[in-house]
Amino acid sequence: MYILSPVSKRLLLVPILAVMAIQFLFVRTVWSLNMTNTYLHHKCFVDQGKFKPGSEYEENLKFIVEPIPVTSESFERGTKMEMVGEGPDLISFILQCRGDTSGPRCRSCYATALAALRRRCPRYKGRIIWYDQCILEISTIDSLDKIDYNNNLCMSNGKKVMAHYYSNSEWLDLIHNLTTKAIRQGNSKGMYYAAGETRLATENIYAMVQCSFYLSSKDCENCVRHNIKHYQDHLFNKQGARVLGKSCSFRYEFYPFLLEKTRP
Ligand SMILES: *[C@@H]1O[C@H](CO)[C@@H](O)[C@H](O)[C@H]1NC(C)=O
Repeated sequence: MYILSPVSKRLLLVPILAVMAIQFLFVRTVWSLNMTNTYLHHKCFVDQGKFKPGSEYEENLKFIVEPIPVTSESFERGTKMEMVGEGPDLISFILQCRGDTSGPRCRSCYATALAALRRRCPRYKGRIIWYDQCILEISTIDSLDKIDYNNNLCMSNGKKVMAHYYSNSEWLDLIHNLTTKAIRQGNSKGMYYAAGETRLATENIYAMVQCSFYLSSKDCENCVRHNIKHYQDHLFNKQGARVLGKSCSFRYEFYPFLLEKTRP
């Protein structure tokens, strides 16, 4: 009978672990790439009413949303904003793609979001939809120069992190540093955006911060600070969390979730 000696057992274990680690990494990479255009949430603003078929409102809306040019400056920048009409027929259109999602990816997210918004909130004048890589809002309320605190989506990883494992100061520092960086870099691309990572013992924390370019740098900072405080119960001691809004967004994870790795 053949008995494995402790040495050969160990030799056998190492390659198996290595294969498992590679598979795990592979699955994780594929999963994060598949996050493209993942639907997260939507809201129909019932109190803003509905529009009638054939109305001037509908004509104006069509003019804004269609056609979607394959290459357009908006998608390159990753953001598009339009305002048409007035009073109850005002159309405020805001598309905000995540900072790493410009060009064809932004366009693709927009096309998906627009189709879904039509399906989920048919004929509503006010509606908003969140995708992993873009937010699209159509509304009768002109909120461009104000921070929108009402339409934020907060999501966190259900897994809690042991209190002794880390103090939250790691990701908080990173978020604050990235906010400063996003503001400093200004809005040459049409938005404030910064991404980075920090080391935590044996793991990395990856994060991003983004603000709409129509906000002042002070408001960008205020928005991020306010949302950290407001959603603290959902943000602290988690294995990753995010708050996504059209004024500001931030997210931290223990895995790289952005499409292009951005080093600080
Ligand atoms: C944040 O910035 C400070 C000051 O520049 C730096 O000392 C610190 O290491 C940074 N922390 C992170 C997590 O990026």
